[in-house]
Amino acid sequence: MNPVPESSSTSPTGATASPDVSRETTAAGTDVSRETWTEGQAESWVADEAVDTPIGAEAERAVRLLHARGQLPRPAQQRVFTIANQKGGVGKTTTAVNVAAALALQGLKVLVIDLDPQGNASTALGIEHRPGTPSSYEVLIGEVPLRDTLQQSPHNERLFCVPATIELAGAEIELVSMVAREGRLRTALEELRNGELSDFDYVFIDCPPSLGLLTINALVAAPEVLIPIQCEYYALEGVGQLLRTIEMVRAHLNPKLTVTTVVLTMYDGRTRLADQVAADVRAHFGDTVLRTVIPRSVKVSEAPGYGMTILNYDPGSRGALSYMDASREIAVQGAQQRGQDQ
Ligand SMILES: Nc1ncnc2c1ncn2[C@@H]1O[C@H](COP(=O)(O)OP(=O)(O)OP(=O)(O)O)[C@@H](O)[C@H]1O
Ligand SMILES: [Mg+2]
Repeated sequence: MNPVPESSSTSPTGATASPDVSRETTAAGTDVSRETWTEGQAESWVADEAVDTPIGAEAERAVRLLHARGQLPRPAQQRVFTIANQKGGVGKTTTAVNVAAALALQGLKVLVIDLDPQGNASTALGIEHRPGTPSSYEVLIGEVPLRDTLQQSPHNERLFCVPATIELAGAEIELVSMVAREGRLRTALEELRNGELSDFDYVFIDCPPSLGLLTINALVAAPEVLIPIQCEYYALEGVGQLLRTIEMVRAHLNPKLTVTTVVLTMYDGRTRLADQVAADVRAHFGDTVLRTVIPRSVKVSEAPGYGMTILNYDPGSRGALSYMDASREIAVQGAQQRGQDQ
């Protein structure tokens, strides 16, 4: 079993790198262009934290984080992720909303599609999702175009959400009798690829804890899968079944589907178990596992209760910093993919 070298730190990205370019461009209020941004300019928010003293430093970090716009590269083309794990409560929604918010904070335009009838992502983003609100349900059954369901998060002008209402709970059953039932979300997302919605840099689809038709629709609609895995007992339980489902969707419905990203969540550095789980997951998934690990933090779990992400609720906290680092890794991954595509 491989030890996890970063057991005491949530982010080993640790890149020191020169922050000059990103600082300059931030001050100018402009996005870092595709030409000027390089991976070497990456730095770690959590690593910075290690040298600081408590309260003043936390406030300083919070201010810096809230003015982080323009620090990440835009992907060459829009990236669409399905966030899936049929195990409940592993951090799918928390990862969806906080990675999305972190990317938006750093200048990218991001959409979260809430595909879980629980509507937790909508709640965390401060988005209206009472019954009757135009939502992912109407998009799925083809009643309303995607653009008519978009809502802007009150916390960030570049962060949008297609909410989920309780009506979505009936969709699994309604979909069964529909034509092309597995591809309905993909058809609805055509709008994102062409026309006015094509300027979204990142799209995250938050799935319910099941492998039913909602999750299948999400897997058919997205080329990339992000799997959050909780650093707890039975972490890998059920992952085999998820991977088989992904394989089946790839073989029959979506040849581009790939698990590009695995995120370790709710890591508790005080326990040996968390390290063991992290090592097992890294042994299994290799480089797709983000080096940044999301710590277990009460603040992270409190934020949705206020209709906020951790980036708004407590921007100087470790939870916020680790989601900033995770989002940076994802964006760098996107820049590297771009290099490979060229
Ligand atoms: N890093 C964290 N630290 C502490 N609590 C967390 C953390 N991440 C998530 N939680 C809490 O754990 C619970 C489950 O998280 P979340 O809702 O993101 O999981 P999920 O996989 O989306 O769940 P579901 O399967 O029900 O959709 C929530 O109460 C959330 O606030
Ligand atoms: Mg959820």
